[in-house]
Amino acid sequence: MSPEHSGAADREQAVTDEVLASFDQTADPRLREVMRSLVRHLHAFAREVRLTEREWETAIDFLTRAGHITDDRRQEFVLLSDVLGLSMLAVAINEPKAPGATQATVFGPFFVDGAPEVALGDDIAHGAAGTPCYVSGQVRSADGFPIGGVRLDIWGADEDGFYDVQYPGDRTAGRGWLRTAPDGTYRFRTVLPTSYPIPNDGPVGDLLTAAARSPMRPAHLHFKATTPGHRTLITHIFVAGDPYLGCDAVFGVKDSLVVEADHHTAGLAPDGSQPQGAWTSMTFDLVLVPDDAS
Ligand code: BEZ
Ligand code: FE
Repeated sequence: MSPEHSGAADREQAVTDEVLASFDQTADPRLREVMRSLVRHLHAFAREVRLTEREWETAIDFLTRAGHITDDRRQEFVLLSDVLGLSMLAVAINEPKAPGATQATVFGPFFVDGAPEVALGDDIAHGAAGTPCYVSGQVRSADGFPIGGVRLDIWGADEDGFYDVQYPGDRTAGRGWLRTAPDGTYRFRTVLPTSYPIPNDGPVGDLLTAAARSPMRPAHLHFKATTPGHRTLITHIFVAGDPYLGCDAVFGVKDSLVVEADHHTAGLAPDGSQPQGAWTSMTFDLVLVPDDAS
């Protein structure tokens, strides 16, 4: 390296060292570790790509637009984390490694606190458009025992690929929660999920377009399972055969979560009703691990 270049490199390193040192007095040791590592990697990234000031301004503008489009119904920063694979990396780092445990996947931006409680077997579609889908299964512990009383939150999009919160107004549809029976079983009715694009009318959508990436997610239904003494599980079931299973915009697909939807054109549905048109059914068992599982 010429003396000129090594001088420039030294000046760059001096900036990084000064910023690292500015976190030396951070009282919380974890915050100190995380911030120092963030600075090291962020600065290394800027050096590696030789970040121009114009590009830095573009990045600030991107984040500003993400902030402006974010409100209590739209979360552009979650979307950004999702399309960068950071959400799924955090899931992979933190999910229990116990064999047999149901795998976790992205939470996504469409969970809503305060969804209605329903009884076992009830309809959570509440008028959401789509082919009826009867979902059932059992929640067990990793050693095979059924777990009763588990709170299962479920949410999904309608046949047009939209969640209730994406429509104007405050209608609740396609979401609800129930408790598993003493033998760990659960059942409910909803609509068969379809593949849909993640919201792509903001800066994250612009990024996907610039990168020639698809915004599509394969059809899925979200589950959150909560019960004392066990790790909360956030996962999906994906519908087998969906054309986007191999190219989920947010990298959330795991083979163990792909479930066959059985299609029916007649006969008695699991709730004893005789649907007028086509209906579907899926089964999905969940295996939870103890709170302290690694
Ligand atoms: C979802 O599945 O609801 C979702 C996940 C990540 C980004 C956008 C939507
Ligand atoms: Fe979703």
